[in-house]
Amino acid sequence: MDVHLAPPIAAVLHAAVQQSDTGYCGDATALRGAFSGFAARRWHWDVDPSSVRTCADVAAGVTEVLRLLTVPGDKVILTPPVYPPFWSWLQAVGATPVEVPLLESLNGGRLDLAAIDQAMAAGSKVMLLCSPHNPTGLVHEIDDLRALATLAARHDVTVLADEIHAPLTLPGSSYSPYLAVSDNAAATGIAFHSASKAWNLAGLKSALITAAHPRQLERLGALPHEVPWSVGHFGMLAAAAAYEQGESWLDGLLGALASNYLLLANLLQQHLPQVRFGVPQASYLAWLDCRDLGLGSNPAPVFLDHGRVAVSAGADFGPAGHGFIRLNIACHPDVLREAITRMAAAHRHSVT
Ligand SMILES: Cc1ncc(COP(=O)(O)O)c(C=O)c1O
Repeated sequence: MDVHLAPPIAAVLHAAVQQSDTGYCGDATALRGAFSGFAARRWHWDVDPSSVRTCADVAAGVTEVLRLLTVPGDKVILTPPVYPPFWSWLQAVGATPVEVPLLESLNGGRLDLAAIDQAMAAGSKVMLLCSPHNPTGLVHEIDDLRALATLAARHDVTVLADEIHAPLTLPGSSYSPYLAVSDNAAATGIAFHSASKAWNLAGLKSALITAAHPRQLERLGALPHEVPWSVGHFGMLAAAAAYEQGESWLDGLLGALASNYLLLANLLQQHLPQVRFGVPQASYLAWLDCRDLGLGSNPAPVFLDHGRVAVSAGADFGPAGHGFIRLNIACHPDVLREAITRMAAAHRHSVT
């Protein structure tokens, strides 16, 4: 995101530098407590701080947990269009992706529970759930998550819930932490969190892995020693400050994102009316259906080459993304205005 750091986070980092506090991190007690407090206030989710483990980032956390749960060749369910590195995380451990596309990706989409049931029955061992969902901004309904948990329990599938975008749930939507939706979810889930998306801290390296059921906690106990120690010291300090003192900054950010989405809808209407777009329920990523622009299955290079606007190519998110792009709207409204104006000019240039 193109934002200024939240003041309480900047203060804690400045103080650490001032004190030359740049050595190894200490233990994670403060961060665990801060996350647990945030989860309780924000989501009414009761997280036992002792169940929370640290890791460098969500990518490393999910990959290490996949390594624990699978052997090469095991099948893991993904729900494209979805965050492209999910495929490479599976590849890193030799797992085989089983793609169960979302039902209709344009207005957020929805889990295809019947197809997930079939994929589980056909032997998938793990499901990688993106909640909220990148790139469509879907905040899964609690009933869908409960139904998913029932299926996971029935087929003995572990659900790895990547909840990195959860704090970015926009006003008017209600995010449900997977582990908290039902006993089946608690029994089948392992969740991944980080302050890195919502407070723009990705370069500082810190993320959290948590579970609620003794079976899952025992599995996490087998994570290699290096995993918790790979967390960054600055990342831990910053994340604890974010969870403890960063809520009013976050609320301000969410208001700005919501208004940018309205601006985007108006700008598209005005300059690129052929692009279809539904306002997401979470995060700062707009999933734009450009199939009616006449730019083929990969419109992203047109906007880059002719408009100097860098967007993500929809096809990177799986076959359902052909003809789509993902646009980051976490910027000043003037930048967004400029981007859409340039994209419209690039489109005119390419079709004439
Ligand atoms: C769904 C999802 N998971 C994980 C990540 C990466 O997180 P990290 O930097 O903690 O590995 C991202 C980053 O955009 C993401 O969107």
